[in-house]
Amino acid sequence: MKPGPAAKRESSRKPVTTAPIEVEHAEERDIAAISTLNNLFAPDGLTLPRSEEFVTTHLADYQVVRNADGAVLGCVALDEYSPSLVELVSLAVSPTAQGRGIGRRLIAAAEDLAQQRGYPQIFAISLADGLFLSAGFHESSIDVYPEKIARYVKISRSELSIGRKFCFARALR
Ligand SMILES: CC(C)(COP(=O)(O)OP(=O)(O)OC[C@H]1O[C@@H](n2cnc3c(N)ncnc32)[C@H](O)[C@@H]1OP(=O)(O)O)[C@@H](O)C(=O)NCCC(=O)NCCS
Repeated sequence: MKPGPAAKRESSRKPVTTAPIEVEHAEERDIAAISTLNNLFAPDGLTLPRSEEFVTTHLADYQVVRNADGAVLGCVALDEYSPSLVELVSLAVSPTAQGRGIGRRLIAAAEDLAQQRGYPQIFAISLADGLFLSAGFHESSIDVYPEKIARYVKISRSELSIGRKFCFARALR
């Protein structure tokens, strides 16, 4: 029996493939793309501006998700305050790749790296409350981290706008 039109339509459809999201350590080739992606969201105050120089200096602290062509789709970094305190920073996913679970994977990867490095806890300042709460963080307060407030004051008074964001923390061991 010949296949009907519905079966033909079915067989001509491309198979749906969901490639696994792989998080990798950032490399030199990613520096410009990381800075560009991070800074895309800086005018809205969602990320702090990060220059290529900053990314270069902190390259070992950055992790990325790339597409099949090697282009950076998402990034995240760790920013150490002391051997007992680290902040998750520079979390950004390209607008065309958002909503596919990349942000969640990047948070988990940052936590894993922080745990490997022996930090007892990790915190983040963000407006993405649903994302961090569903990733296992709990609401905290910036007042618990005077190191953070001091660093913001030192960098730029304009960055004190963190006041309107939420602070999230998670114990790592
Ligand atoms: C926030 C951001 C990194 C999320 O990346 P993403 O890849 O779209 O996130 P995911 O697909 O992994 O989403 C996971 C969950 O978080 C939720 N979520 C995503 N972005 C959110 C946001 N801004 N606020 C609240 N919840 C959010 C999603 O709805 C999803 O929930 P679900 O699993 O119940 O559907 C991305 O939207 C982004 O780059 N935003 C601009 C920069 C920014 O705000 N960075 C955070 C600074 S700490």
